[in-house]
Amino acid sequence: MRDVFEPLTRDERRGFRERYLAELRGRDGEADVKARKLALREELFREIQATPIRLSGPPVVDQAVFSRNERLRDPEPGLDERTLWALAVAKTNRSERFGVEYAMARKGDRAFPPDDPRTYINLEEVYHTRILRDVVETIGLEMHMQPPHRITRWAIQIMARLPHAISYMLIFDGELAGVAMFRLLCGKARELFADQPEPLRRIESLFQQILTDEIGHVRYAHSTLGRVRLAIARLMLRPLVRSLISDVPEFERLFGRARVMEEIWRADLSPLPRLLAATP
Ligand SMILES: [Fe+2]
Ligand SMILES: [Fe+2]
Repeated sequence: MRDVFEPLTRDERRGFRERYLAELRGRDGEADVKARKLALREELFREIQATPIRLSGPPVVDQAVFSRNERLRDPEPGLDERTLWALAVAKTNRSERFGVEYAMARKGDRAFPPDDPRTYINLEEVYHTRILRDVVETIGLEMHMQPPHRITRWAIQIMARLPHAISYMLIFDGELAGVAMFRLLCGKARELFADQPEPLRRIESLFQQILTDEIGHVRYAHSTLGRVRLAIARLMLRPLVRSLISDVPEFERLFGRARVMEEIWRADLSPLPRLLAATP
């Protein structure tokens, strides 16, 4: 398997941006920047809303316990795996969402340059919180939007002001960690809800949406980095993952910190191989 910190070859880099943009347009449809909407995503959500799927039987997670813990940085002791899982799902995209919303507030429509993959990437992030809300709804919970921790907010605000040459190393690491975290959550759902195949299928398909997006984000950030900056990104990965996980301590309780790092090193970014294919 190819090391994710290996730079693209010259051939692979040629035309990458156009190929990725074409892929995004095909997958997401027309981008309506004013309304912050993607045409095909809207269609998908209409479909999901029209066919709600919920776990059957008594609630597997207590709404009051979930809502109380959603507001805490460290979850209460003694929570079961399903509650920890639901909390991790609710918290995982907080920093990405905050980062995108902060950039939008700062730059306005400049956060959505025309004919640029970043427009789609930012709009996809807007949908991720909505997707995760649908995931927790599938197990019968209502999720509330909470901001990330104060220190994380501060770090994101600084990052947004850094030149791209620096911030993209951190963005690459962050997106890589995101892929690993969503994969772990999807795998855990298979364990926890194996007895309810239909809701599990819905949960898997929602995670699949996010994962395909996030793998694209990793690839895009990667394509902007050469050998030196990728080597620096490799050095920064461990401390960055540590800080991301300290923001979602449920991960440590569910999987242990080492497992998240392991998942990142195993990152197989092959689902979008076309993007790497050299321009004919
Ligand atoms: Fe995301
Ligand atoms: Fe992302």
